[in-house]
Amino acid sequence: MHSVAVGRWGGFVFVHLTPVHAPPLADAVGDVVERLAHYPLDELVGGRRFSYDVAANWKVIAENYNECYHCGPVHPELSRLVPAFAGGGGDLDWDAGVPHREGAWTFTTTGTTTRRTFPDLDPDERVRHKGELVYPNLFVSCSADHVAAFMLWPQAVDRTRIVCDLLFAADEVASPTFDPDDAADLWELVNRQDWAICESVQRGMSSRAYSQGWFAPMEDPSLDIRRWLLPRLGEPT
Ligand SMILES: [Fe+2]
Repeated sequence: MHSVAVGRWGGFVFVHLTPVHAPPLADAVGDVVERLAHYPLDELVGGRRFSYDVAANWKVIAENYNECYHCGPVHPELSRLVPAFAGGGGDLDWDAGVPHREGAWTFTTTGTTTRRTFPDLDPDERVRHKGELVYPNLFVSCSADHVAAFMLWPQAVDRTRIVCDLLFAADEVASPTFDPDDAADLWELVNRQDWAICESVQRGMSSRAYSQGWFAPMEDPSLDIRRWLLPRLGEPT
């Protein structure tokens, strides 16, 4: 039997395989706790699950989540929902949430839904979208009525299993009229667009001609997975 460190935040269970080196979970999750404090993450339930096997290193996928340089050309439908994405999103105040086009307020095919907004959101959060990467392997994308949670499970140096759960208020899921397709159809489309370019990046990195990647304009040091990961590679395991 081996001991592991276990902690919980937002309904997610975090495991550290070497408890003696495990930082407090609050330190690991960091400011995300505050930024997503109004979303009832630990009360939500699953309404739809997607699983993907992606032929890319997990860090490529995390890096892709942390920049929107690709959004305009790769996500035309999403960019019609969030016009600022068409220009790369570099001018957005991401911590304040991403604004939708006029009349839209959630990540669905129409930009609206019949589901209610989460009750404790502030006025901005009721019409905006927030995305957070909790290192090393959790993405949390929050709309006002649902949350898309992605977990990355590295399978090999060039292959990652991704589980995407669409989470909703329990009473919405219990409703006889519950239908998550409006959100699921958009996420499925956007996800597959993202995984395709991550696989393309992986193929490019595998070329003998490859020497290094390039930072996208919005990839400041706080969003750079290498700066997060490198100090940790020196720790005993
Ligand atoms: Fe993307």
